[in-house]
Amino acid sequence: MNKVGILGVGSYLPEKKVTNFDLEKILDTSDEWIRTRTGIKERRFASPDQAASDLAAEAAERAIKDAGISAEDIDLIIVGTNSPDTLYPATACLVQDRIGAKNAAAFDLQAGCTGWVYAFIVGAQFIKTGMYKHVLVIGVEAITRMVDEKDRDTYVLFGDGAGATVLGEVDKGGLLSSALYADGSLAEHIILPAGGSRLPLSQEVLDKRLQYTRMNGREVFKFAVREIGKVSLDAIKKAGLTADDIRWFIPHQANLRIIEAGIKRIGIPGERVAITIDKYGNSSAATVPITLDEIYREGKIKAGDKLLMVSFGAGMTSGGFVLEWSK
Ligand code: ACO
Repeated sequence: MNKVGILGVGSYLPEKKVTNFDLEKILDTSDEWIRTRTGIKERRFASPDQAASDLAAEAAERAIKDAGISAEDIDLIIVGTNSPDTLYPATACLVQDRIGAKNAAAFDLQAGCTGWVYAFIVGAQFIKTGMYKHVLVIGVEAITRMVDEKDRDTYVLFGDGAGATVLGEVDKGGLLSSALYADGSLAEHIILPAGGSRLPLSQEVLDKRLQYTRMNGREVFKFAVREIGKVSLDAIKKAGLTADDIRWFIPHQANLRIIEAGIKRIGIPGERVAITIDKYGNSSAATVPITLDEIYREGKIKAGDKLLMVSFGAGMTSGGFVLEWSK
C-alpha cells in the first residue's frame, strides 16, 4: 500500500464579516452571550451571488497551486458539504468544470460537519491502492443559507467558507491512522427537515420554516464532548502514539467549550490546539481544512509534525485521523 500525504492546502473565506454586534441588531441575542457560550466573535457570510461551488473552486485552485500541479493532474474530486448548490448535480461536478479538472471523477459526500474528515479518508484509499495519483478533497459550506435568521439558537453559530487539500503519495509519514463512526439513532438532533424526499417543499413547509436547520443544542453538545475524546484517543492509539506526540490538534470548530472539554479528555495542552472559531464561527464541514490551512500559512507546521484532525456532526457522525506532515 502507498503512503498518503497532503501535497497542497488552500482555503477561501468570503469577504463579508458579520460580527456578534451585527446580530444583536436583528436577533434577541448579545455579543456577551455568543462569546461566552461559543467562543465566536464574528463569522463570514457568502455574498448573494456565491454558492458552495464558488467558495470551493477558490479553495481548490489555491490547494492545487500549493501542490505545484495543474487542475488536469487531478484524478478525483470529493466535496464534503451539507449545503450543496443544488440537491443534484453534485457540487463536486460544478467544481470540476469551474477549475478545469477535465480528467477528474467527482462526487459529493454528506456526513454532517464530519464531511471533510470522511472525504479525506475515502479519498486516501484511492491513493493507497495506487488507483489514483491526485485526489482533491474539499470541505465547503454556504451553510448560512440553511439557518433561519429568526432562530437565535442556530443563526448565531454558523459561517461560510471552504478548505481544500490535494492528496497524493508520499515517501514517509502521511496518514498514520483513522477512526470513523456513525449513529443514525441520533439523527433527529441536528436535521434540515424539509427539501428532501421525506418532506418536499410546500407552502405549509415554508410557513413552518422547516426548510431551515433544527438543532437540539444540548444533546449535540453532549455527543460532541464524548465523541471528540473517543475519536481522538482511538486515532492516537491506532497510530501507535500518545497524546504527547501530537504537535497540533485541529478539532471541528463548533464551540470553544466543546474543544476545551475535549482536550481535557485527550490530555492535549491548549497551546497545541488550533483555533479559528472566534473569526469564522462554525463553517461545518469546512472548519478543519480552513484551520489547517491557517496554521500552515502561518508557518506553524514542520515536516515530521504529527497532526490530529477530528470532527463530529449531523448523522450523527464523528471521525478523525492522525497524519505526519511530510511537505
Ligand atoms: N442569544 C441569547 N440567548 C440564547 C441564544 C442566543 N443566540 N440561543 C439560545 N439562548 C438562550 C436559550 O433560549 C436558553 O434560554 P432559557 O434558559 O431561558 O431557556 C439559554 O440561552 C441557555 O440555553 P442552553 O441551551 O442551555 O445554552 P448552552 O449553554 O447549551 O449553549 C449552544 C447553547 C451554544 C447551542 C450549545 O448547546 C452548543 O454549542 N451545542 C452544540 C452545537 C453544535 O456543536 N452544533 C454543531 C452542529 S454540527 C453539524 O453537523 C451542522
